[in-house]
Parts: sequence; structure tokens; C-alpha cells
Amino acid sequence: MKKPSTVLVTGGCGFIGSNFIPYFLDKYPFYTVVNLDLLTYAANQENLKEVHNHPRYRFFQGDIQDVSLVKSLFEKFQIQYVIHFAAESHVDRSIDDSSSFIGTNINGTHALLEVARRFWLQAPFQLRTQYTSCRFHHISTDEVFGSLGPEGYFTENSPYKPNNPYSASKASADMIVRSYYKTYGLPIIITNCSNNYGPKQHDEKLIPTIIRHYLDRKPIPIYGAGNNIRDWLYVIDHCKGIDVAFHKGQLGHSYLIGGRNEKTNLEMVRSICRLVDSFDPEKRFSFQESTHIQFVPDRPGHDTRYSIDASKMEKDLLWRSETSFEKGLMATIKWYLQKYSKWSSFHGEL
Ligand SMILES: NC(=O)c1ccc[n+]([C@@H]2O[C@H](COP(=O)([O-])OP(=O)(O)OC[C@H]3O[C@@H](n4cnc5c(N)ncnc54)[C@H](O)[C@@H]3O)[C@@H](O)[C@H]2O)c1
Repeated sequence: MKKPSTVLVTGGCGFIGSNFIPYFLDKYPFYTVVNLDLLTYAANQENLKEVHNHPRYRFFQGDIQDVSLVKSLFEKFQIQYVIHFAAESHVDRSIDDSSSFIGTNINGTHALLEVARRFWLQAPFQLRTQYTSCRFHHISTDEVFGSLGPEGYFTENSPYKPNNPYSASKASADMIVRSYYKTYGLPIIITNCSNNYGPKQHDEKLIPTIIRHYLDRKPIPIYGAGNNIRDWLYVIDHCKGIDVAFHKGQLGHSYLIGGRNEKTNLEMVRSICRLVDSFDPEKRFSFQESTHIQFVPDRPGHDTRYSIDASKMEKDLLWRSETSFEKGLMATIKWYLQKYSKWSSFHGEL
């Protein structure tokens, strides 16, 4: 068994972090997780209630840009590993005002890298003896590559072409992380993932919005003609991909994680609403595109299509997306039915 060691997880109270932490604590008995999260509007501590009293879990509320706080956590817990989720993540908000995206996604990533560099390295390319296995895992997105046409896939060699302030801030962070590997020899890994779906996502995102509006019998707002394509991956499959890249990925490399599961936004609405229909024992719902969807003016700079070629993850790290779309959506809808207190009238079918 590995020596006990401590992982600093940033942004662990957000959607992916709060799926990742229980998975990681459960799988590995030798890691302590220190979760540093600012608790912005996007966070929900309720989503981590299963680990609140876990003996190997500690929570600190604070900003990753606060260098003295980050430094004090490194010192107090002798941090060996960082898994960096913390970000401002909603594209629409970045279009309204990108300042916090620049602050958290760029300056915050830089602050973490600087503390890690000073703590783990005695000189460029010379790790201190007690930190020879340390690692900084930066969680990023496929959105840094911009938009695809009808054909082709993103690979690790695709050029960066971000089209909105969110993806530009993530692209900047990726570049800075990479530079710390090239310049200082800081042991880094970057994973760029496609759109995640699953339990614990903030209400403002597409899938919770579809479910909530449908259950509340309100028109479901869909950008443009609903033809934008995303490559959807169940969040636990992403967590497993992070796990394998964190433990087995080659330092200095980036890995693309995707579900080989392209869907237009319209297809997402149809699949979700029809599943809700099929779960409803009283048949109160019956999805009809013309009545349930409201097309709204497109988001400026809206990327047309994202799609990931995950061959490097599959061949080098033997990772696979395991959860079928139907199974993942069922688990997701079940979780939101419970969250929106509709579960009692739907139970039995899931
Ligand atoms: N959600 C997706 O589909 C997706 C896909 C690919 C990559 N990603 C990336 O994965 C990471 C996590 O995404 P998510 O969907 O869980 O995001 P989220 O918005 O749900 O959660 C972000 C978390 O970071 C915290 N945070 C924000 N600013 C902070 C700061 N300055 N200091 C400390 N904590 C701060 C928030 O409080 C929140 O808990 C992000 O880096 C995102 O770019 C997300």
C-alpha cells in the first residue's frame, strides 16, 4: 500500500469536484483530501454531506488566489498532490462579465502553481527529496480548442482556438500550467474533458434547466435552432479518467477525455423529456417539441460542435467511458427528481 499522503483538491464543492471527492476517498484508503473552495454561487456543500465527517476529509473555505492561505495549507498538510478543479465555469456568465474568470481561472491557477513550485522544488528540475512523487493535475475543458465543423475530432495536438472569455481563460491557464513544466520541471498533467452530465450539477446548466422547466411545465429555453453539438460524458466516467491520468499519466502530457457520445441540444431535450415521460406512472407528461421548447436568440460566439478523440486515454491509460447514455441520464434524472422533491410521485420506475 502507498504511504499516506495529502491531496489538495480545489473547487471540490462544485459539480465535478463533489462527485470526485467521495469516489476518490472511497477508492484510496491512503489519501487525505483537503478541499479548498471559495463557496461561490456554484458551490453546494450539501453535495458533499456524505464525506463531511470522513476522517480523511478536511474542508477550507477560501480563494485559490490567496497565496498566503494556499501556502499555509501546503505547509500544514505537507501537500504532495494538487487536483485543481476550481474555476468559474459558466460561459454565459463569462460573456456578461469576465473579470472573475480572469481572476480565478488564470490568476488562481498561477497562484497555485507558484506555491507548488516553491514548496516542491529546490531549484528548476530539482524536486525536494520528500516531494519526488508530487504532481499537479490541472482539470481543463475541450472548449479551449474552439469549434469544429461537421467532421473531425479534437486531439491532444489540436490548436488552441478559444472563442469566449470562459474558454479563453481556461486556455490561458492550460498554457501557464504547461510552461511550469517546461521552465521549472514542475510535474504536471492536464486533462481536457468534454461536457459532463450527472448528479450535483448547478441548476443554471443545460440538463438541470431542461429537467426543471419540463417538470414545472415551463417552456424549455434552447439557444438558436438547438443544433449545437456536444460530446456528453457521465461525470463518474470523468472522475475515473482523472483518477487514471493522475496516477498513470505521463508528466508534462495532456489527455483528452470524452464520451464518444455526440448529441445536439435538441436531442438532449428529447431524450430527457421522453425519459421523464416514461418514468411518470400517472402519465401527466407527454413531450411535444412545439409546445415544450422555446427557441431563444443564440449565444454570441456559440461554438457549433465539440467532439473528442479519446484514443490516447484509451490506448495509453486503458480508460474507457463505461456508462451508457441511457443509464447515465436515468441516474441524473432520478437525482434531480429527488432534488426538486418530485421523487415521491415518480418512484418505482427508475
Ligand atoms: N462541467 C463540465 O462539463 C466541465 C467539462 C470539462 C471541464 N470542466 C472543468 O472542470 C472543473 C470543474 O467544473 P465544474 O463543472 O465542477 O465547475 P463548478 O462551477 O460546478 O464548480 C466550481 C467550483 O470552484 C469553486 N471556486 C470558484 N472560484 C474559486 C476560487 N477563486 N477559489 C476557490 N474555489 C473557487 C466554486 O465555489 C465551485 O465549488 C473546471 O475547471 C471546469 O473548467 C468542466
